[in-house]
Amino acid sequence: MDSPLAVLRLASLLLASALALGAAYAVRSGEAPVLPSTPYDYDGIALPAHLTAPAVRATDNTPPDNPITDAGATLGRVLFYDPRLSLNGTVSCASCHLQDRGFSDPARFSRGFEGGLTQRHSMGLAFARYYARGHFFWDERAATLEEQVLVPIQDETEMGLPLSEASARIAATEYYPPLFADAFGTEAVTPDRIARALSQFVRSIVPANTRYDDAREAQGGPPGRPLAALTDEENLGLELFFGRGRCAQCHRGDLFVGDVPRNNGLDAKPSDPGAGDGRFKTGSLRNVALTAPYMHDGRFATLEAVIDHYSTGIRDSPTLDPILRGPDGRPLRPAFTPQERTALVAFLRTLTDETLATDPRWSDPFAVTTPAAPRPEPPGLSLTVPTPIRGRATLHVRLPAPGPARLDVFDARGRHIARVMDAEAAMDTRVFWDASGLAGGLYVLRLSTPDAALARLAVVSP
Ligand code: HEC
Ligand code: HEC
Repeated sequence: MDSPLAVLRLASLLLASALALGAAYAVRSGEAPVLPSTPYDYDGIALPAHLTAPAVRATDNTPPDNPITDAGATLGRVLFYDPRLSLNGTVSCASCHLQDRGFSDPARFSRGFEGGLTQRHSMGLAFARYYARGHFFWDERAATLEEQVLVPIQDETEMGLPLSEASARIAATEYYPPLFADAFGTEAVTPDRIARALSQFVRSIVPANTRYDDAREAQGGPPGRPLAALTDEENLGLELFFGRGRCAQCHRGDLFVGDVPRNNGLDAKPSDPGAGDGRFKTGSLRNVALTAPYMHDGRFATLEAVIDHYSTGIRDSPTLDPILRGPDGRPLRPAFTPQERTALVAFLRTLTDETLATDPRWSDPFAVTTPAAPRPEPPGLSLTVPTPIRGRATLHVRLPAPGPARLDVFDARGRHIARVMDAEAAMDTRVFWDASGLAGGLYVLRLSTPDAALARLAVVSP
């Protein structure tokens, strides 16, 4: 995967402005998107071996006539983040599908262009590409992704823009025609091309930089066996997931994705029929720790609440999935102990890609101000930051000469979070930084002496 490299590319864009701290360093410009001079790699995103196995590839819903290309996904990225696709220019796809939330929305229901609320909870988009039936939405009403992506644009609550108007608007926006020409050979803007580009972008979101994947890469064989690289607690969760909890019978294999819509016992009498009789799409659980709240109506605020549902909360109804019935025909009650509940949640957290939130390939191209020419780094001054940071980190500071030095931490909005060091320092100093209390994400570390300053990015894992 080239994501560390990609993060570095983002870093060079952001750090130039981060040095002028005080001003927020990432501001929506409202102008043209800032795109890399060589497009990011979308068509060659490398997946670990267990995710390129035939069983996994068989679930890929990429149609032969719309393969991912770097230029197509680049156009899709711009469209995805462009509020022009809503009637009054206030809402983009990303308003309800937030990168740092696994492309879901922390709100139970999402706000559309006129402030109205959606009827269901926004769905995470990571790994949407791998679903064999290729149907989309909680109720699977869209037969393909190409069909799905045009629905929110026209939806009365979500974006409210007729497709003819969308095409005309985009064709009249100066930065689009060249992007269409790169992606499709000519500058023509059509709903079909908009759909293709958005679909390519959505399908490119396959963040597999997870502890689970690292552990699986180190250990072949079928999924479901304990993994040496996970903790005992995580392995207990894994065993319950694939065993007594029966989770893996619906959230299957290394993709943790379902096959058909199913009724997982949320209601005895479902008020929302979904795909019929309370059956809903069984989406992938990859990155599920990022996409709270949970279920089609966002009824559970936490993963713990989800586990409690499966533990003792399953409601009977004629369409309750047979997998969730015990041998006596009654709803399954695995009655997890508190320790088992914690273990299941710990296991689900191993499915989180820590770099998803910050990977520039999937980030907002409008959010980056054009940086001024990069300043030369002050000679003799350096700051080495391990990445990603989990909990406590050791930072390495080098100064041109012993003397006063400060090390400050800012969050992604440029707010001062902490002063890690303020001392007379030797030329070579190790500084301990306890980042365990911080939310996961991107931070800026600024090292300053009376004469010079430099900034480094830090990726903090939650
Ligand atoms: C106002 C909020 C909102 C906006 C704007 C929005 N979405 Fe969604 N999205 C949702 C909700 C809510 C759902 C689930 C709706 C349902 O199932 O009925 C959803 C579902 C989806 C799904 C289905 C995922 C799956 O696995 O089945 C995809 C794909 C998607 N949106 C992509 C997009 C794209 C692309 C755009 C921009 C063109 C967009 N969305 C704009 C809220 C939004
Ligand atoms: C019979 C099939 C089935 C089984 C067994 C099952 N699930 Fe689910 N799961 C579903 C369906 C269907 C949904 C979506 C339901 C909805 O939103 O209405 C879902 C949703 C979820 C969600 C929320 C996903 C989201 O994006 O909101 C989590 C987390 C989850 N399941 C975890 C588990 C765990 C852990 C187990 C085992 C203890 C388990 N599931 C067992 C079918 C199943």
